[in-house]
Amino acid sequence: MTIAPSTMRILSSLLEARTGQCLSEGRHWRVEMALNPILKKRGIEDCNALAASLAAPDARRLSDETVEALLNNETYFFRDHDAFADLPRVFEAIAANRKGRKTLRIWSAGCSTGQEIYSVAMQLRDDERRWRDWSIELLGTDISQSVIDRAKRADFSQFEIQRGLAAGHMLRWFENSDGRWQARDTLRDMVHFRRHNVLDVPPPGQFDVILCRNVMLYFPGINRAKALANLARALAPDGALMLGAGETVLGYSDRFEILPGVRSLYRLAAAEPPQILRVAAAGS
Ligand SMILES: C[S@@+](CC[C@H](N)C(=O)[O-])C[C@H]1O[C@@H](n2cnc3c(N)ncnc32)[C@H](O)[C@@H]1O
Repeated sequence: MTIAPSTMRILSSLLEARTGQCLSEGRHWRVEMALNPILKKRGIEDCNALAASLAAPDARRLSDETVEALLNNETYFFRDHDAFADLPRVFEAIAANRKGRKTLRIWSAGCSTGQEIYSVAMQLRDDERRWRDWSIELLGTDISQSVIDRAKRADFSQFEIQRGLAAGHMLRWFENSDGRWQARDTLRDMVHFRRHNVLDVPPPGQFDVILCRNVMLYFPGINRAKALANLARALAPDGALMLGAGETVLGYSDRFEILPGVRSLYRLAAAEPPQILRVAAAGS
């Protein structure tokens, strides 16, 4: 069936109001596929009828489900392997400024089902002796409650566990039961999750590293600028922001500058020494 232009407008405005994303024409093709499970579950005839139902006064639950279904939650462990390979040097550089208090705070904003922040957790635990006496706080947030619930459960399918995860990590950190892979408590307990919109006031305190990858792809420029301003507020003066491989701050924020020598990473612009972050070259 054809989705009426008025239906697209209703769905676009709903999605933008709740998440900041626009439903550009390039994404219209996947709307019907994304909403199909809701139509089936609720016995709604088609997307046009669903859009009409959204106007009902008691449609909050339906609108929540609709927004969740329209979000793209694609993620996998150690996504952009090269970028992850740079992270230990970034942690080292920041840790050099934290010797007194030995704390690190890392935030994955738009964490989806948790693979990103669990990858960071595994990476830190790989170097267990280095971080033994450090207090490390790992936070994952997402606008979608359903992915946050899944991230907390840390229970992955065979397909999900095989995407990006080396066999060593899989066997060390996950237990197989009936074809599902459950994170061991030692890994799960390292991370906290909660619902949060990157367009809202950031979680309290300053973070040393913020990963916000593949979250702003569908934001119009004004929302990218707003999200980046929030991330700049949440970042420690000598912290680092990691964006997705195809993302940039250019044109949306002058609060960040590229962190020389590492991929997809930015530091706060105009930070003065001694707080400016410098990362040693690879192999040094
Ligand atoms: C494509 S996934 C990327 C997940 C992970 N960061 C990665 O790169 O693998 C984008 C995630 O951003 C979330 N998201 C979209 N808009 C958001 C917003 N305004 N605030 C917080 N999360 C948002 C989506 O729900 C989705 O889980």
